[in-house]
Amino acid sequence: MNDLILRGTQVTKTFGALRAVWKVDFDVKKGEILGIIGPNGAGKTTLLSMVNGTLPLSSGEIFFKDQKISGLRPYRIAELGISRTFQVVKPFPGMTVLENVAIGALFGKDKIKNAKVAQEKTRSILETVNLSNRENVSVESLNISERKRLELARALAMDPDLILLDEVMAGSNYYELNLIMELIQKLNEEGKTIVLIEHVMKAIMGVSQRIIVLHHGQKIAEGTPEEIRNNDEVIAAYLGERYAKMRGKHAES
Ligand SMILES: Nc1ncnc2c1ncn2[C@@H]1O[C@H](COP(=O)(O)OP(=O)(O)O)[C@@H](O)[C@H]1O
Ligand SMILES: [Mg+2]
Repeated sequence: MNDLILRGTQVTKTFGALRAVWKVDFDVKKGEILGIIGPNGAGKTTLLSMVNGTLPLSSGEIFFKDQKISGLRPYRIAELGISRTFQVVKPFPGMTVLENVAIGALFGKDKIKNAKVAQEKTRSILETVNLSNRENVSVESLNISERKRLELARALAMDPDLILLDEVMAGSNYYELNLIMELIQKLNEEGKTIVLIEHVMKAIMGVSQRIIVLHHGQKIAEGTPEEIRNNDEVIAAYLGERYAKMRGKHAES
């Protein structure tokens, strides 16, 4: 799998009778930006959780750089070079923004042992995500968009080769959205491989090189943004519903 960084075969997660993710095959090329879309409850977050090890697979296998990672503990997977953000942000409470991100630098792939070096690295990451002016405030006082960027900063601090982003644009205004899109593109140009889940269609279609569509736990389509936009099954399962909602909104106003 020379040009592949991540590969999953028949990846499955069941919760009782519920097939949250069902026999999904996927791969991610080195240096790629891969988007994952699908309706609420489609299994997107569950899939990311299996990749980074926070949820064990019910069946199937996942490989990262030719090494089997399914079955490994999350901290081992992080050390190998995968880090993620969480849809429901979980910062360490009672700590400042700077402290929250510095922890990532101390525990990631490059495990910086020196607190001062970790702090310098942290400052540069906070600058990257536009949170420098917030470094000394406690995480509780951040708004949603800032919390999402804190999550992103924490993921970056681990110095990953592969970053998994779960709805980092949620709660962002137009300006913040563009900032995150530019940031994702910049990280990708710097060599990071990125997998992102996003509901903001314009953003994910604009930034992704390839898109996977999940529906009821299954992969129903895969292709370029253009192919996905014109895929009848995707329109029926997901895009159609969203377009209908959009039309509904316009009709109300
Ligand atoms: N820990 C859990 N226990 C039971 N059911 C879960 C759990 N996590 C997710 N689910 C269910 O699995 C399905 C997929 O959820 P999720 O992966 O969060 O979807 P998405 O991120 O695409 O909105 C949903 O029906 C959800 O309710
Ligand atoms: Mg989700």
